[in-house]
Amino acid sequence: MAETNQQRGSQSAEQTNIEEAWEADLLERYPEPGTPPEGSAQAESADFRDYTEGTRDGVQEFYYQNHTRQTLEFVRDMHQKYLPLRHRQMSVWEAMDFLDELVDDSDPDTEEPQIFHAVQTAEAIRADGHPDWFVLTGLIHDLGKVLCLFGEPQWAVVGDTFPVGCGYSDKVVLAEYFEENPDKNNPEYQTENGIYEPGCGLENVLMSWGHDEYLYHVVGSYLPIEAQYMVRYHSFYAAHRENAYQHLMNDTDRQMFAWVRAFNPYDLYTKHDVAPDLDKLMPYYRDLVGQFFPETLQW
Ligand SMILES: [Fe+2]
Ligand SMILES: [Fe+2]
Repeated sequence: MAETNQQRGSQSAEQTNIEEAWEADLLERYPEPGTPPEGSAQAESADFRDYTEGTRDGVQEFYYQNHTRQTLEFVRDMHQKYLPLRHRQMSVWEAMDFLDELVDDSDPDTEEPQIFHAVQTAEAIRADGHPDWFVLTGLIHDLGKVLCLFGEPQWAVVGDTFPVGCGYSDKVVLAEYFEENPDKNNPEYQTENGIYEPGCGLENVLMSWGHDEYLYHVVGSYLPIEAQYMVRYHSFYAAHRENAYQHLMNDTDRQMFAWVRAFNPYDLYTKHDVAPDLDKLMPYYRDLVGQFFPETLQW
């Protein structure tokens, strides 16, 4: 049955709040180097730390849902549902507009359009003199969040990602919540390597389903391998920040994770920058997108 606008609006508001809470939590776990320690007067005044106790509860509930529901079977079902890509055809800009619509629906006074985060990330990468494909990756890296367009719950769109079908690392945030994941009761999935061969490479490992993996399938074939890794693993904090899951990686993964690590600060630490001048910047970004992508992409 078709959703009403109202239904989609409240779903969107919830989606955006959880996303914001997750992102605020990431900043708490991985503060920008040089920021004052939590609890200091400066930290208390920083906008991105100014969230309520209620939000923290919300983000814990979110991790609980994510860690208990992302089973191997669920991930396989999502691959079946979305791959090969057949849901719709959209340009990069149509996808961006859709994400902006989600924010508009929720709370226009406090939310910033998704395109701000996209352009802020890309502009910071450009300012540091990185190549075009890296700038482009900054612009598009979160477009996989259009999964909510297809009605997926937030625990299947955002949040830290992790391998399924093998033992959970205690480096995954709030790993204790995995105790209630049904896969915990399957001994085959709970050895260190689980259903995988040691060193098999992450391309052979099923990750929890979310916007990273989905977008990788949408845009991967148009991008260099470094960018593919940035898109696919940018929420895999246990690996790129905590060095977990090395036993599943191959040499290519280890080399390419240097690029995932290079990307991460642009994703995390550019949100509090000034709003980008979109009128001035859009010609550049339209041209950049046109250099790499066809008019429409398959989603
Ligand atoms: Fe993301
Ligand atoms: Fe992002």
